[in-house]
Amino acid sequence: MDPWPYRHLVLRTPRLELRPDDDAGLLELAEVTLSGIHPPDEMPFGVEWTDEPREKLGVQTMQHYWSVRSALSAEGWTLNFLVRLEGRVIGVQSLHADDFAVVREVGTGSWIGQRYQRRGLGTEMRAAVLLFAFDHLDALTARSSAFTDNPASLGVSRRLGYRPDGTYLQVRRRAVATQTRLLLTREWFARPEWQLEVAGVEPCLPVLTGRETAE
Ligand SMILES: CC(C)(COP(=O)(O)OP(=O)(O)OC[C@H]1O[C@@H](n2cnc3c(N)ncnc32)[C@H](O)[C@@H]1OP(=O)(O)O)[C@@H](O)C(=O)NCCC(=O)NCCS
Repeated sequence: MDPWPYRHLVLRTPRLELRPDDDAGLLELAEVTLSGIHPPDEMPFGVEWTDEPREKLGVQTMQHYWSVRSALSAEGWTLNFLVRLEGRVIGVQSLHADDFAVVREVGTGSWIGQRYQRRGLGTEMRAAVLLFAFDHLDALTARSSAFTDNPASLGVSRRLGYRPDGTYLQVRRRAVATQTRLLLTREWFARPEWQLEVAGVEPCLPVLTGRETAE
């Protein structure tokens, strides 16, 4: 039994390579956080982690992804796929699920460095994990959410076929802000024209699909 088969899992799109996070890649990701993810007067994240002072941002990025990686189990998992363009880390695409064996639903979250935005890469990386979830894990639904003033994230969701599924209020920088919930079923999914290449998935399936707990 391989104790950490996720290190061999790789998703490839026409331009991007996505692999679950590793320490060398996280060091690169920490650099991307320091070079900027969004304008300082905006806050696209529900957790305001990019408001941390620069000297703490790098180490806290590493510690956050370590804590998530170490908590992976069949009952609840998050895969933080590091996204590479031409071999360099440009951001992260997360895919998570709770009790997948019963619920068969995934959630996503993502960001890329500001200099890589608005080139269709955010759409391409979200499409990659959706293809992985629907076609390899056999998910039935996917969820996302975004603040109503985040046209980029809402644009990715719209493009891929998600539908609005209500709202909720949240405190953001000490003021109230509205999040839109988004829902995608495998039938609504606006599949990209390209094919996803996947390698190394088989040994990951017992935990990711929850088959391990059912056996
Ligand atoms: C959200 C994010 C991952 C999207 O990635 P991206 O590569 O910039 O987005 P894309 O280029 O794939 O654009 C997707 C759609 O949104 C639209 N869009 C992107 N940025 C936009 C903007 N600032 N204003 C209006 N529309 C925008 C695009 O035109 C595109 O729509 P189309 O396919 O109908 O033309 C990226 O912008 C990002 O990392 N933002 C900062 C962090 C963040 O907001 N994370 C999500 C938190 S919920």
